[in-house]
Parts: sequence; C-alpha cells; structure tokens
Amino acid sequence: MELKANNISFSYNKKKEILKDFSISLKSNQIIGLMGDSGSGKSTLCKIMAGYISNYSGEVTIDGSKIPNKDFYPVQLIFQHPEKTMNPKWKMEKILNESWTPTQDLKDTFGLKDSWLSRWPSELSGGELQRFSILRAINPKTKFVIADEISTMLDAVTQVQIWEALINHCKANNIGILAVSHDPELLDVICDDILYFNEINNL
Ligand SMILES: Nc1ncnc2c1ncn2[C@@H]1O[C@H](COP(=O)(O)OP(=O)(O)O)[C@@H](O)[C@H]1O
Ligand SMILES: [Mg+2]
Repeated sequence: MELKANNISFSYNKKKEILKDFSISLKSNQIIGLMGDSGSGKSTLCKIMAGYISNYSGEVTIDGSKIPNKDFYPVQLIFQHPEKTMNPKWKMEKILNESWTPTQDLKDTFGLKDSWLSRWPSELSGGELQRFSILRAINPKTKFVIADEISTMLDAVTQVQIWEALINHCKANNIGILAVSHDPELLDVICDDILYFNEINNL
C-alpha cells in the first residue's frame, strides 16, 4: 500500500500559510523520516494525514483513493505528549482497551506492566504512558503510523526500547511509519530515508 499526501496547502488563518503544495508518500514497508525546525508545520501535516484536520486543499490517499473517515481511520497518529490524548478520569486499563485489546505478548514486547493498568494517567511517567499510546495506535486495522516526536521527552534507554518494539511490530505487520523529528541522529538510525520539511514545502 502507499499513503500519499498530494499538493497539500493549509493555513490556520489568512495571515500565515503553513503548508503550500506539500507532497509526500510512504509505502507499507518503509520508515520515512521527516526533519524540520520547530514551528515549521510538521505536526500540522501529521494531523492532516491522520484525518484530524479536514479543511485543507489537496488530497490524502491510500493507493489512490481518498480515505473514508467514517469507520476506523487506517492512518494513526502518535503524539509527542501522550497525557494530552488520554482521558484523565479513565484508568489505564480502559484507556488501553478503548481502541482494541492488545495481546499479552504485545504488552510484554512494549514493556507494559500489568500493575500499571489499575492506575490513573497522572500516576505514570511519560515513557510509560507513551507505551500505551503506541499500543492503542497499532490496532490490527492500522495501515500507517505517523510518529510525531514520540520519543522527544524520553530518556535514551526508553527511546531505544520503544522504537525497537514499534519498528519490529510494523515490519512484521507491513505497517509504514512516518517518523517526524528534529533529531537527525535518531532518524539516521531508524529510517530508510530522510526528507527535509522545508525542502518539500513550497512557501
Ligand atoms: N490550532 C492552531 N491555530 C493556529 N495556529 C496554530 C495552531 N496549531 C499550530 N499553529 C501554528 O502553526 C505553526 C506550525 O505549527 P506545528 O505544525 O505545530 O509545527 P511543528 O510541529 O513543526 O513544530 C506554528 O506557527 C504554530 O504556532
Ligand atoms: Mg510538532
């Protein structure tokens, strides 16, 4: 499969354009890195590709077809700050199982401990919470993962563990990854190819 963003233009308000004729493509067996400065519009592009923003021009397609937004969305976005995507009034077990129920094997692969399940989100660290976010995103119906600075706030050991588990899972299940980061060393290690945001954006 191939995920494509074609000639995307977008602005939050009339004063400032964020994306202009931006095009990018990603195949199921690929891990593509996207590098760019802070504030350049990377997260905005991620939200467009994952269906969170709809009032853009251009199109986002999988194998040439527009992605229906009524059922499960096959392009899943993992955010930098997992705590912002979780209901603080839900226990972790409910949060984890909201999208699907991951196997014990997969929970072990991501180092997710059973004792965490009875806690509130505020009672876990950023790295622990991010493991939940990733498991939620890799629903069996997921075809592409967009990882927006997902390990920026994590220590080096946790960063390696999380990326290793995510990459292994995606390779085994033919899920393509767009890895967004401002860290060239990380992208060098994990990606097949690295693209530079400002070179693609036609502002
Ligand atoms: N909801 C929003 N409303 C208005 N401006 C926004 C909104 N979200 C982001 N922006 C602005 O859009 C620009 C790009 O932001 P963002 O996509 O988050 O960049 P990046 O992820 O590369 O740091 C920034 O100037 C930011 O302030
Ligand atoms: Mg961002």
